[in-house]
Amino acid sequence: MMKNEYIPFPAVIEDVRRETFDTKTFRVRFQDKEAAGAFKYKQGQFMEVSVFGKGEAPISITSSPSRKGFLEFTIRAAGSVTKSIHDLKKGDCLYLRGPYGNAFPFEELKGRNIYFIAGGIGLAPLRSLINMVFDNRKDFKHIKLLYGAKTPDELCFKGELETWKKIPDTEVWLTVDKPCDGWGCRVGVVTELWKDTHIHPDNAVAILCGPPIMMKFVIMKLAESGFKDKDIIMTLERYMKCGIGKCGHCNIGEKFICVDGPVFNYEQVKQLPHKEGVF
Ligand SMILES: Cc1cc2nc3c(=O)[nH]c(=O)nc-3n(C[C@H](O)[C@H](O)[C@H](O)COP(=O)(O)OP(=O)(O)OC[C@H]3O[C@@H](n4cnc5c(N)ncnc54)[C@H](O)[C@@H]3O)c2cc1C
Ligand code: FES
Repeated sequence: MMKNEYIPFPAVIEDVRRETFDTKTFRVRFQDKEAAGAFKYKQGQFMEVSVFGKGEAPISITSSPSRKGFLEFTIRAAGSVTKSIHDLKKGDCLYLRGPYGNAFPFEELKGRNIYFIAGGIGLAPLRSLINMVFDNRKDFKHIKLLYGAKTPDELCFKGELETWKKIPDTEVWLTVDKPCDGWGCRVGVVTELWKDTHIHPDNAVAILCGPPIMMKFVIMKLAESGFKDKDIIMTLERYMKCGIGKCGHCNIGEKFICVDGPVFNYEQVKQLPHKEGVF
């Protein structure tokens, strides 16, 4: 019998970690051992995550394919589905279908300097690639993470930011719009971090994710710094329904973000007809 793409698999929630006031990370494991064994995904892919009776939402896989046996999703409570997911506890089930979409490059990044640039929950999709790069650290040159949030409380993955800072040949630069007492890093938007560290295009690739307005200004800064369009890689968000190129909810011109994306380089984004209104 043909496999029905729309039927989700149950996955048991093993752990729930609060990241910020409205964001939690869920660690899950497939209930069905056969499904778990057959399941493979790539850094940057997403899944349709559902709660029965509520609906489903596309969510990036934030765990890394290099760390086996579980999946993680970092989810902001934005509306009805994501709020229902936030009500779930350890031992409850999430329903998953996918993985969908293309992936961040990995082999092509080997031997290069990498700039990861993220705003807010935009660090979640990048984290899949970041930990995969760190799990193969010797294959990559210098790594810099530039990360901004509205307030220090709204930075995700605080524990991991500390761990990443200590990895050789790695820099982590943080900024917030509104500091709290004792905040020791920069205040301002992500592009302000250009004042703290040298951003150089030599043998480098920049990989970004964040709100469209942040991406617009980061791309302008990267272009000023000499980065070529093809060396600026980003992940795009659109309203999605099916996730598999059937319903037409996510298309921009001829491209379906769910199957042709969500990862694009800036050369490709410039060819999209609407350019998301900001690029
Ligand atoms: C490929 C992809 C990966 C994603 N990864 C994550 C992730 O890792 N973590 C996460 O928290 N969210 C992620 N999202 C966004 C997430 O899918 C939406 O926030 C979710 O669909 C909201 O569903 P809801 O029913 O809870 O809220 P809704 O009631 O549908 O919406 C709540 C609010 O969010 C807005 N909204 C909904 N979807 C989008 C969208 N795609 N773009 C902009 N605004 C939107 C609505 O206009 C509304 O204001 C991703 C989206 C895509 C397309
Ligand atoms: S979400 Fe249905 S075509 Fe992309």
